Order: sequence, then C-alpha cells, then structure tokens
Amino acid sequence: MARTALVTGGSRGIGAAISKALKAEGYQVAATYAGNTEKANAFSEETGIKTYKWNVADYDESKAGIEQVEADLGPIDIIVANAGITRDAPFHKMKPEQWKEVIDTNLTGVFNTVHPVWPGMRERGFGRIVVISSINGQKGQFAQVNYAATKAGDLGIIKSLAQEGASKGITANAVCPGYIATEMVMAVPEKVREAIIGQIPTGRLGEPEEIARCVSFLVSDDAQFINGSTISANGGQFFV
Ligand code: CAA
Repeated sequence: MARTALVTGGSRGIGAAISKALKAEGYQVAATYAGNTEKANAFSEETGIKTYKWNVADYDESKAGIEQVEADLGPIDIIVANAGITRDAPFHKMKPEQWKEVIDTNLTGVFNTVHPVWPGMRERGFGRIVVISSINGQKGQFAQVNYAATKAGDLGIIKSLAQEGASKGITANAVCPGYIATEMVMAVPEKVREAIIGQIPTGRLGEPEEIARCVSFLVSDDAQFINGSTISANGGQFFV
C-alpha cells in the first residue's frame, strides 16, 4: 500500500510543490493549511490532494487534525514540517508578539506536528521526518532574529530526533532553502530583494520544485542511511 505523507503548509509556496511532488511519486498526501480556505480548495481541485485546516501552533488542534488524516488515509509514514511564517523587523523594533508568533508557528509547530505521530512511527518501525529550515537559520538575517532562531532550532530538532529514531527505522533530516520564488520572498521590499539576488552566485531565486526534489529524495527508501543531515539548496549563497 502507498505510504502516507503529511505536508504542513502544503497548499501554497514550497509546501504545494512538495505535496505535488510526493503525489507524483505515488504517495498518499495530506496537506494542511492555516487560513486561506479559498486557495486550499483551489489547490485540492487542481491536484486531487486533500487539504486539512488547522493551526500548527496549537497542540490539541494538531493532534485532532492528525487523527482525522490517519482515519481518512491510514497511518502517517512521512512528515514534511514546512509550515512557517515571517514577522520581520529590526531587533530594536521587534515586538514580543512578533517573536512569539514566529516561535509558536515555526518551532513549536514542528513539535506539535511530529510528536503525535512519533509513537506510531516507532511501533511500525518506519518513519521519515523532513523539516524545512532555511538559509537564514544557518547564517542569520537582518530583521529576522525570530525567524532565524526557529530555523536554527529546526536543525537541533532533526539532529536529536535522528539519534532517537535511528534504531526504529525513522530518519529526520532538514532542507535549508535559500531564497525561493514564493509569496514570502516576494513580500520583501523590491530593493532589498534585488540586493539579496545579487548575493546569489547562481544569479536567480530558486524554484519551489527545486526544494521539492530534495524532499522526494530524503523520504525515499534509498535515503535510509541519511539521518540528521541538512541539504542546503541556495544557489551557492552560503556554505556551512
Ligand atoms: N541588510 C542590511 N540592511 C538592511 C537589510 C538587510 N537585509 N534590510 C533592511 N536593511 C536596512 C534598510 O535599508 C534601512 O537602512 P537605513 O535606515 O540606512 O535606510 C534599515 O535597515 C532599516 O530600515 P527601517 O527602520 O525603515 O526598517 P523597517 O522597520 O521598515 O523594516 C524590513 C524593514 C522589515 C527590515 C525590510 O527591509 C525587510 O523586509 N527586509 C528583508 C528581511 C529579509 O531578508 N527577510 C527574509 C524574508 S524571506 C524568508 O524568510 C524566506 C527564507 O527562508 C529565505
């Protein structure tokens, strides 16, 4: 039977490309979204991928949503923790709410997504966790103390889960996208965006599909020995 994959934030941007790529690979895919029902419905109609609305920042909502996905599609074998937001501001202007919102969604959201599924993966002896981190978790970024903290935190999560899951057939890895042509990056003021593109040796933004291909590989059976790793896909903008 086809494996089941859950992609959080899976109906837009990088997440949508991941959902589509996994479906094309033959997985059963469930995509979550936070608020944009119109876009999520259009995505489902276009792709045939079922979408589920919940707030990843809320543990009980996540747990209930995951139970619904498992009732509909069967046990979740693959998690792609992709849901994320930005609330950019220079640190001297950053409000506690901007810090908290980003931590709750991007970092606690990963806990809330993986934790309810983890016991089942351990019991079944198979699991794939891929967390979508960011170049800005690796190098930091002006106006992103909150976001960079969560994306660096993702790397701590996967390195720890990799050690806990290895003996149970579970791998945990991260992808660190650079600047990808999505709504999130397009929201950066044009002048700043142009300056950033100038720092990318490849000379362009990445495409969501280029990140999706990294995920397809990491969740495959062929990637069993890759655990606790990070794939950087950033056009040469930053090397770890
Ligand atoms: N590097 C250096 N300086 C920067 C900068 C940067 N990346 N971005 C802005 N600045 C400068 C501005 O030019 C400005 O300088 P001056 O005062 O000399 O004019 C100063 O910082 C801040 O200006 P403001 O006080 O007017 O700032 P603001 O309160 O209006 O905030 C901002 C503006 C939110 C910082 C805006 O410039 C911005 O969004 N910057 C981009 C931040 C960024 O790169 N975010 C990444 C989003 S994409 C993403 O997160 C996806 C991913 O994983 C890669």
